[in-house]
Amino acid sequence: MSAKEEIQKRKTFGIVSHPDAGKTTLTEKLLLFGGAIQEAGAVKSNKIKKHATSDFMEIEKQRGISVATSVMAFPYRDHLVNILDTPGHKDFAEDTFRTLTAVDSVIVVIDVAKGVETQTEKLVEVCRMRKTPIIVFINKLDREGKDAVELLDEIEEKLGLHVTPLSWPVGMGGLFKGVYNIYEKKLLLYRPHSKQSKEEVFEIKDVHDAVLVEKVGERAAEELRSELDIVTHVYPDFDRKKYLTGDLSPVFFGSAVNNFGVKELLDCFIDIAPTPLARETEERKIDPFEDNFSGFVFKIHANIDPRHRDRIAFLRVCSGKFERNKNYYHVRQDRQMKFSNPTSFMASRKDVIDEAWPGDIVGLYDSGNFNIGDTLSEGEKLHFKGIPRFSPEMFRRVINKDPMKTKQLNKGLDQLMDEGVAQMFIKELNGDKIIGTVGALQFDVIQYRLEHEYGAKCDYEPLSIHKACWIDSDDDQALQTFVSRKKKDIALDKDQRLVFLAESAWVLKMTQETFPAIRFHFTSEF
Ligand code: G4P
Repeated sequence: MSAKEEIQKRKTFGIVSHPDAGKTTLTEKLLLFGGAIQEAGAVKSNKIKKHATSDFMEIEKQRGISVATSVMAFPYRDHLVNILDTPGHKDFAEDTFRTLTAVDSVIVVIDVAKGVETQTEKLVEVCRMRKTPIIVFINKLDREGKDAVELLDEIEEKLGLHVTPLSWPVGMGGLFKGVYNIYEKKLLLYRPHSKQSKEEVFEIKDVHDAVLVEKVGERAAEELRSELDIVTHVYPDFDRKKYLTGDLSPVFFGSAVNNFGVKELLDCFIDIAPTPLARETEERKIDPFEDNFSGFVFKIHANIDPRHRDRIAFLRVCSGKFERNKNYYHVRQDRQMKFSNPTSFMASRKDVIDEAWPGDIVGLYDSGNFNIGDTLSEGEKLHFKGIPRFSPEMFRRVINKDPMKTKQLNKGLDQLMDEGVAQMFIKELNGDKIIGTVGALQFDVIQYRLEHEYGAKCDYEPLSIHKACWIDSDDDQALQTFVSRKKKDIALDKDQRLVFLAESAWVLKMTQETFPAIRFHFTSEF
């Protein structure tokens, strides 16, 4: 197979959802279609069990599972699909965001009863910034939930997406009869807990066809007809170009656990989802079809268990062909490296691979050489653009509990931050180290890992900080004045950039009004 064919075969995406919306279930059904697994239950839920959110062994178990299910590849209709897991547990970390840099599209799963939930909002915001193509799957139609139109409104409003339904539910919950697939003009009848078979799919090019009434009854048929009438008037026609630029998101309805509507979703995904896309570096745009290999590390997995200190760096191949035992250029370290055991991930199996293509994710055993965002190339000094860091939501000051181990503490903190566990800000005024996270669990993880991996002990002092804002100004003098006036709230991030730590939304607003020459940014890239 030619390089071009290899690349065009691949579709690399992530499933984004709030915990419990059905991501694991959907992933499993997709893998079943691809024959990557043979039975249900093979993909472990990567959730931390609700009752044990601060149990470290649970954290470790969860991390272990999440590495096994980090990337799942399966073949389908002459394509190779790579699903990247975006850990969606309650206390998700920075690296959940970063995984989104490695995908070419996403599927967002929404629970029909719960609608759009907070974590989905955050993750979709990242996708929107990157103009990632998005397909929405509304799940659990076998249960009573929100009205379809209401849900689409909510998706548009809360997620800022323009949507167009490509399927439409016939009834819901106890009265759920199936979905009408607008994309393929087919009616799918719902049979709970049965495998979808051909007999339950009917081609209905025209909804006035008598077959519709025969299959779902007069009342449901009438309802569907009038709803579809509204749908076609209110929502735009599907336009693949708009989908590919992130400007239009098709929506499907179904029930993952019943494997209902999943095949339709997958078929449409295969038809429309992008093959590996070009990627921006600070230097130039990298086309996947270029001969020379390039790729970047988007995630690092380290074992908490001190007896197994190995780390795995996850590399997304962006161009050319990656080969085992070939020398590549590690741009940040300015040196050559080769890898004798690069792995691929097939469901829960890990295999050593000889080659990988754009769109693929390769696991590289790492003894501390990689940071998130590092580039490998064939010699060119490239720096892939990542996603910006966002303001964390929780902040605590680090207290060193063992001054004899200060060096270890500092080293540990630096390395954990490089891994993307959390963000650290250092106060200009007194050198205080402030850790910011998106989930409370990360504080426990850091404390535990500092002690077990670096022999350092820390405690935390809670801080009331509302947001960290990156600041800049066209007026140097104004910036200097601001920094000296707000000294106690100024810190530096890991790239030595100025950050203003706002105590509350009100303080932030007042500060913005008082210092109009200063720009306040809520992400690190501006
Ligand atoms: P997540 O990865 O997004 O966190 O969600 P997961 O797939 O684990 O699904 C969360 C729960 O929702 C599971 O039930 C799962 O069986 C259920 N679920 C998924 N799809 C559907 C659906 O289409 N309809 C209905 N009614 N339920 C669905 P659980 O009780 O938490 O776990 P389990 O014991 O069933 O595994």
